[in-house]
Amino acid sequence: MSIDISQIRSDFPILSQQAGDYPLSYLDSTNTSLTPTQVTTAMDEYYNEYNANVHRAVYHLSEKATAKMDEARGKIQHFINAELPEEVIFTRNGTEAINLVAQTWGRENLSKGDVVLLSMMEHHSNIVPWQLLQKDKEFEIVFLDLTDEGRIDLEHYQSVLQKKNVKIVSLVHQSNVLGTVNPIKEMAGIAHQNGSLFMADACQSVPHMKVDVQDLDADFLVITGHKMLGPTGIGVLYGKKNLLENMPPFMGGGDMIRSVTCKESTWNILPYKFEAGTPNIAGAIGLGAAVEYLEKIEMETIHNYEKKLGEYALSKLKSVKGLKLFGPQEMNERGATYSFSLQGIHPHDLASILSERGVCIRAGHHCAQPLMDRLKVPATARVSLYIYNTQEEIDRMIKSIEEAKKIFKLDEE
Ligand SMILES: Cc1ncc(COP(=O)(O)O)c(C=O)c1O
Repeated sequence: MSIDISQIRSDFPILSQQAGDYPLSYLDSTNTSLTPTQVTTAMDEYYNEYNANVHRAVYHLSEKATAKMDEARGKIQHFINAELPEEVIFTRNGTEAINLVAQTWGRENLSKGDVVLLSMMEHHSNIVPWQLLQKDKEFEIVFLDLTDEGRIDLEHYQSVLQKKNVKIVSLVHQSNVLGTVNPIKEMAGIAHQNGSLFMADACQSVPHMKVDVQDLDADFLVITGHKMLGPTGIGVLYGKKNLLENMPPFMGGGDMIRSVTCKESTWNILPYKFEAGTPNIAGAIGLGAAVEYLEKIEMETIHNYEKKLGEYALSKLKSVKGLKLFGPQEMNERGATYSFSLQGIHPHDLASILSERGVCIRAGHHCAQPLMDRLKVPATARVSLYIYNTQEEIDRMIKSIEEAKKIFKLDEE
C-alpha cells in the first residue's frame, strides 16, 4: 500500500498551525507523537456519551465503558499478537510498566549473586527501576557496552550470559537516541538458551514497525501510548500469562482484589490484578483508536515510508559540514531517529534557533545519561520522524541548521 501523505496530515490538525512566520515542522515524535482526530474523537465520545466508571455498575453507561475498554485491550492484543487479552496490562506509561516488572517479578526472583543485564543505550526508565530494587535485593546490574557505531556486540552478549548468573535481560528494541534497532528476536533466543528471561522496551519500535510478541518470544514487552499516536497517561505491559500469574500485585486498592477482610486480601484474576484503582479509561480507548489508525495504514507501509524518508534525512544530515551523527550510519538496523552534535554550537542553542524557524527538535540527554557519558557528550540534538513528516520539513530543518551555523559564524573559521 502507498501512503497518501496529505490525507494523513489532514488527520493531525496541529500540523496546519503556523509557528510565527513559518509553517510548523514537528520533528520530535521520538519524544511524543502527534494525535490524529480519530483518537481525540474516540476519547471525546467516551466523555460526551458514556462517561462512567468500569466494572463497578450495572447501568448502561458503565456497561458500555467497560465493553469499550475491553475492546481497546483486544485491539492492542491483536496489534502485538499476544495470545490472550489478559496478557495486556494497562499502565500509566512505559516507565510504570518497567517498574511493575522490577517491583513484582524482580522483588520475588532477584537476590544476591543474580544479574540483571541491560545495555549502555537504555532509557533511564529501564535503569532506575532496577537500581531502586537493587538497594533491597543486592543483585548486580551489568551494562553491555556498545560498538563505536552504537550497536551491541552479540558475541560479547553471549559471553556475558554464559559467564554470569543473568536472571533477566532487559533491552531497548529501538534506541531513542541512536536509532539503533537491536536484533531482539535473536537476543531473546540466546537469553532463553541460557535460562534467562527477556524483556523488550519496545516504546520506540512498536510505533514504527510490526512487533509480534509471540514471534519474538518476549517474556515481557513494554509500550507507551503517547509515542504511537495515542494519548499521554497510558501504556501497556505485555507479559506471558504463566509469568504474570505467578507475580504478586504491584499496587493495592480497588479493582485488583477478589476479597478484602480486615485481616487480609486476595487478588483478582489477570489483567485486573495489576490494574489497581480507576484506570485511564479514556486513555485506553484512545490507545485502541491509535492502534486501529496505525493498522488501517498498515505497519509495513508505515515502516517502508519511514525508511525512505529516513534515508533522505540521513543523507542530508551527513552532508552538513561539522555535524557528527551518532549511531549506525546506514538505514539498515536503524530507525528514523538521529542524534548529532554540531561542532561549535551547543545542542540547546541549535534547538532554540530551529524553534524560531518553526522546526521542533529535541536537545538534551534524552533520559539516557549513561549513553551520553559513553558518547562523551553532555547532550545531543535529536531529529525524529513519523508517518506525517515530509521531505520539505527535512529541507527546512537542514536550511535552519545552515542558518544557525551562519549565526555562529562557523563556516568562516
Ligand atoms: C526507549 C524508551 N523507553 C521508555 C521510555 C519511557 O516512556 P514514558 O515516558 O512514556 O514512560 C521512553 C520515553 O522516551 C523511551 O524512549
